[in-house]
Amino acid sequence: MLSRPVFDYNSLNETGNPSRTQPIKTSGLNLILISMTILAIETSCDETAAAVYGETGLLSNVILSQAIHNQFGGVVPELASREHVRSILPIIRGALSDAETSLDQLDGVAVTQGPGLIGSLLVGINTAKGLCYALRIPLVAVNHIEGHIFSINLSREVNPPFIALVISGGHTLLVLVNRFANYQILGRTHDDAAGEAFDKVAKMLELGYPGGPVIDKLAREGNEKFIAFPRALMKSREFDFSFSGLKTAVLYYLKRNTEQHRNRHVADIVASFQAALVDVLVEKTVLAAKNHRINQVVIAGGVARNNYLRQRLSQRAETENLRVFIPEPVFCTDNAAMIAWVGFQKLKQGILSELNIAPVSGMNLATL
Ligand code: KG4
Ligand code: ZN
Repeated sequence: MLSRPVFDYNSLNETGNPSRTQPIKTSGLNLILISMTILAIETSCDETAAAVYGETGLLSNVILSQAIHNQFGGVVPELASREHVRSILPIIRGALSDAETSLDQLDGVAVTQGPGLIGSLLVGINTAKGLCYALRIPLVAVNHIEGHIFSINLSREVNPPFIALVISGGHTLLVLVNRFANYQILGRTHDDAAGEAFDKVAKMLELGYPGGPVIDKLAREGNEKFIAFPRALMKSREFDFSFSGLKTAVLYYLKRNTEQHRNRHVADIVASFQAALVDVLVEKTVLAAKNHRINQVVIAGGVARNNYLRQRLSQRAETENLRVFIPEPVFCTDNAAMIAWVGFQKLKQGILSELNIAPVSGMNLATL
């Protein structure tokens, strides 16, 4: 077994601002032969998370969901950054302790570079840089969406090619995953993300934030056929989505009816909204798989926790002869385990980052 490679960041550049901005490609020889352990940090939105991943798989996964935003009905970016600053070190300490791993056993640190809130990303990135500099180990920048796509691999191995439906508070994407680091975006939302629609409808009905879990639960008692809300772009052969019309239709419905009616039928209203949104997600995903002759479908992101969607997609997949893979709920919403999984692959392949990386709020999938 070879000894761990030591990164001398001082010799890379005296100014601490290396001129190269491309990921460092090493020969990978030293990196491949030793057994590796990576720490991952995720702070792109309102979860402060850290995880440790090694040759045997996931060793720990600690997530703190910031409760401070609940009272505002959505994430307040400035508050999110401050909460990350407060929590990041205890969360990392917790992840290392759960994994029974010490700092000097780490071979690298993976961190979410984007997409996400700039202030939030900065906290995770700077913490990761500090650790890498002090421990003289490599930094691995990870795309948050890439993390979501491969979150299924924390539960079971799914090898590309597959179709990934990434549905979260900030994103709605249909992606053809040809292989690791080779993606083709088939469709995306024109306006609101799927999770955002859940959150906004919940806000209209004063159900609290995040709206997805509340609607998921409440809808079970409702009649999904109570109101025929619009299914935008359902008939189009393209794979793009649009949810703002659905959100507005719910708003107008509430305006047209009395508060008494709303209170009596709140479960029916959310069940009808959820059915309209899920119908489009399921149809587009199945169509994408059939058009590209791919028989594996993966769903990911916070909305993939939705029970109605999980059930509807699984039923539909059976009749269409598709294999559907759904991550465990804890790996659907934001977490550092998924960043660790991608970071681990990159570390092994020698795809590393310089210490001058900056957060990229609108980072697209092909950037890294
Ligand atoms: O992936 P995630 O944690 O953060 C982003 O990257 O955006 O997703 C959060 C989103 C929120 O909009 C939340 O309402 C939604 O996921 N969500 C759900 C459920 N659980 C979380 N939506 C529908 N049903 C759920 N059970
Ligand atoms: Zn996410």
